[in-house]
Amino acid sequence: MQLPTNVSSLRGMIEVPGDKSISHRAVMLGALASGRTVIDHFLPGADCLSTIDCFRKLGVDIRQDGTTVVVEGAGPGGLREPAAVLDVGNSGTTARLLLGILAGQPFHACLVGDESIAKRPMGRVTKPLREMGARIDGREGGNYTPLSIRGGALRPLRYTSPVASAQVKSAVLLAGLFTDGVTSVTEPHRSRDHTERMVRLFGGEVNVDGLTVSVAGPQRLRGTHIYVPGDISSAAFFLVAGAIVPNSEITLKNVGLNPTRTGIIDVLTQMGADIAIDNVRNEETEPVGDITVRTSTLRAVEIGGDLIPRLIDEIPIIALLATQAEGTTVIKDASELKVKETNRIHTVVTELKKLGADIEATDDGMMIRGKTPLYADGIVVDSHGDHRIGMMLAVAACIAKGTVRLERSEAVAVSYPAFFADLRSLL
Ligand code: S3P
Repeated sequence: MQLPTNVSSLRGMIEVPGDKSISHRAVMLGALASGRTVIDHFLPGADCLSTIDCFRKLGVDIRQDGTTVVVEGAGPGGLREPAAVLDVGNSGTTARLLLGILAGQPFHACLVGDESIAKRPMGRVTKPLREMGARIDGREGGNYTPLSIRGGALRPLRYTSPVASAQVKSAVLLAGLFTDGVTSVTEPHRSRDHTERMVRLFGGEVNVDGLTVSVAGPQRLRGTHIYVPGDISSAAFFLVAGAIVPNSEITLKNVGLNPTRTGIIDVLTQMGADIAIDNVRNEETEPVGDITVRTSTLRAVEIGGDLIPRLIDEIPIIALLATQAEGTTVIKDASELKVKETNRIHTVVTELKKLGADIEATDDGMMIRGKTPLYADGIVVDSHGDHRIGMMLAVAACIAKGTVRLERSEAVAVSYPAFFADLRSLL
């Protein structure tokens, strides 16, 4: 796809699609609960559709019409042994959270995904789930898909996770819902807490004590109504576009502002961006607001430690932002980038270099020197099949002179099917 380049201004208002993490969890908890769950502003991206498909194969009645989803909860013991393989597509969240739920079911299931999923470490969830009593087999000792799992009769577990990962935390806590006793997860840094908030919304109980989260099983969940806030990880592409494209002003409506996700706002603020948040309110259990960003003069920052889990998915677009900031931006403590949809240290550095960025990979992140003009004389960039790399490159092209083609642009449909239409609406 040919990308818009040399853009003179981006102006307008966008309502970004529903949050991916929250959309997955709404379907999953809705499937486990007793009674009906209605989900509004659901993300109909490929990843969340994979979650719906897997739960249908587990016998759950789910109707999806655009951004509205109705789940008829299966209730306790209501999931059925699937007659077909569960295909998670490109979705790591589906794979890992689903394994947590399957660990609690007294039947057999097989789980597969696409080429990218086949490279992503599953041992981080299969290890604690095995400790709880699930029988899991799979490629390379159960560290990679394809996996097969036979669950049931789980023991509670006190688990200290070596990584700050909401997928690991959620998988163990979801399995904990099917035990008799208290299951806890302790993390090195706090990861996103959507599972905790949503279990409570469904009438369950979750305790948080510092970096330890626990659930007492068994718990009964009741169907509910959920409005899914706009995904701040999708908004991030336009927040950065608004800050770096000349003469721009973009408002993003109804964006989720959960503090475990707002690291991008902290970074933009520290860099000196002109950004304002209005109309902050609570939608059920998640804070939501409108964000306006204008073209800004930016300075470099250091990003690491506790901030990393709060912006892990935004690092590709933050790397682009840093190319337009005065000074050297250092991103560290971010080795987790290597096990995302692609090795994002490698893909970000490779693709931004093609456009003339002064960027270097490090062991646990990257270093970016700015401010550098980007150029694009007939250059071909590649999403590598990674939605967030594709969208970052489309924003990069906006400030590049020349022409750029994006290969594998269709990858954006994983989290933001209307991304290119929304970008064009601002031109
Ligand atoms: C997610 C957690 C994060 C994030 C992913 C979604 C979730 O992954 O990168 O896009 O919904 O729990 P990790 O838990 O592996 O950090």
